[in-house]
Amino acid sequence: MAAFMRPAILLSFLFSLILPCLAQNCLSDTFSNNRLYTLCSSLGLLSATLHWTYHPSNGTADIAYVAQQESSGFVAWAINPSGSDMIGANSILAFHDSAGVVTAITYEFSNYTPSVRDSNLSFRVYSREAEYSDGKYTIYATVALPGNRTTLNTVWQAGQVSGGVPVSHALSGDNIKSMGSTDFLTGESSGSGGSSRLHRKNIHGVLDAVSWGVLMPLGAIIARYLKVFKWADPAWFYLHVACQCSAYIIGVAGWGLGLKLGSESNGITYDSHRNIGIALFCLATLQIFALLLRPNKKNKYRIYWNIYHHSVGYCVIILSIVNIFKGFDILDPAKKWKRAYIAVIATLGGIALVLEAVTWPIVLKRRSRSSEKSHHGANGANVYGGRQNQVA
Ligand SMILES: *[C@@H]1O[C@H](CO)[C@@H](O)[C@H](O)[C@H]1NC(C)=O
Ligand SMILES: *[C@@H]1O[C@H](CO)[C@@H](O)[C@H](O)[C@H]1NC(C)=O
Ligand SMILES: *[C@@H]1O[C@H](CO)[C@@H](O)[C@H](O)[C@H]1NC(C)=O
Repeated sequence: MAAFMRPAILLSFLFSLILPCLAQNCLSDTFSNNRLYTLCSSLGLLSATLHWTYHPSNGTADIAYVAQQESSGFVAWAINPSGSDMIGANSILAFHDSAGVVTAITYEFSNYTPSVRDSNLSFRVYSREAEYSDGKYTIYATVALPGNRTTLNTVWQAGQVSGGVPVSHALSGDNIKSMGSTDFLTGESSGSGGSSRLHRKNIHGVLDAVSWGVLMPLGAIIARYLKVFKWADPAWFYLHVACQCSAYIIGVAGWGLGLKLGSESNGITYDSHRNIGIALFCLATLQIFALLLRPNKKNKYRIYWNIYHHSVGYCVIILSIVNIFKGFDILDPAKKWKRAYIAVIATLGGIALVLEAVTWPIVLKRRSRSSEKSHHGANGANVYGGRQNQVA
C-alpha cells in the first residue's frame, strides 16, 4: 500500500503542474456582442492575442486583436504585404482620441517618422471598431487578406498618444521584436513573437524524440536481449530501469511542454498527436507504478505481471514512434531531422533483429534443458510472445 501511495502523490504533483497550463488558453477569451472566432494565437509579446475567422469563399478575415495597454496609450495591429517590419505595415490603430473616445483608424506606414492619420490601406477594410476595458484595447475588424494570401507578415505595436494621435513607441525590447507571420488558414504563427514558440516546439520535439523515441526502445532492447546472457545479470535489470526512468523523466518534461504548446495555440489542435501523447503518459506512468508493485520472481502472479509489463511496454514504444512521426508532420522540420530519426530507429530495429537471431538458440537450448529437468518447472513455456526469462 505504501508503495502505491508514493506514485499517487507523484502523479497528483505532476497534474498540479500541468493543469494550470491547460487553463491558459486563448480560446477562453470572450468578446462583446457574442462575437466568436475560430482560431486564436497568443502573440507572445506586448501581452497581445489575435483571434480570427478566415472566410475562404471571399478571402476575408474577421479579426479581434486584444492587447494590454494604459488608456493613455495606443495599440496597433498590422498586416505587412510587402515587408516584415514597420515600413509597409497596413495598420489598424486603437486609442482614445482628443475627445476621450476610443477610436480605430487605419494607416499605412511608409517611413519611421509618420504623422498618423486615418487613411486607406492597400487592401480593403470592411469594418473596424475598438473598445477599451479592463486595461485592454480590443480592435475588431474585417479585412480582405491582400492578394488572397493566407500566410501574411503581421506586426503589432503599443505606444504613446499625444494630442489625440499616436506619436511614438519604445525603440527597444519587445517593441522592436513584435512581428511575425500568421497563417490565417491553419493558425500557425512564427517569426519573432512566434519564434520563441517555434523554439519551444523544437525543444519539445527533441526531448520527446530522444526519450520516448530512442531511450525507451533502447531500454526494451537491453531488457529483452541482455538478460539472456548470464554474465549480464543483474546489470541488465539496472540498465533497463535506469534507461526507462530517465526516458520517463525527460519524456514527461517534453510532454508537459507539448501540452502547454497545445493549450497556448490557436483553435487548431492536433487532436490525435495530443491524445496519443496523453495515452502515452498514462501508460508510461502505469509502468512506473507497476515496477513498484512487481511481485517476487517466485510469485505465481509474476507471469501475469510479465505479460502486462511487456504488452504495455511494447504498446508504449509503438505509440511513441507513431506519435513522433505525427510530430514531425506538425513541426515539419528540415527533412534531415526526420531522416536522422528514421536512421536511428532503423539501426535500433536492425540491432534488435540481429540480437533476436543470436539469442533465440541460447533461449531454446536453455528451455529444452530445463524441460528435460522438470516438466512442471517454474520456467514453463512462454505463452505471451516474450521469451523465457531465466534470470529476472
Ligand atoms: C465573406 O463570406 C462569409 C461567409 O463565407 C460571410 O459571412 C461574410 O459576410 C463575407 N464577407 C464579406 C466582406 O463579404
Ligand atoms: C479571393 O478569392 C475569392 C474566392 O476565390 C474571390 O471571390 C475574391 O474576389 C478574391 N479576392 C481577391 C482580392 O483576389
Ligand atoms: C479610400 O477608399 C475609398 C473606397 O475604396 C475611396 O472612396 C476613397 O476615396 C479612398 N480615400 C482616400 C483618401 O484615398
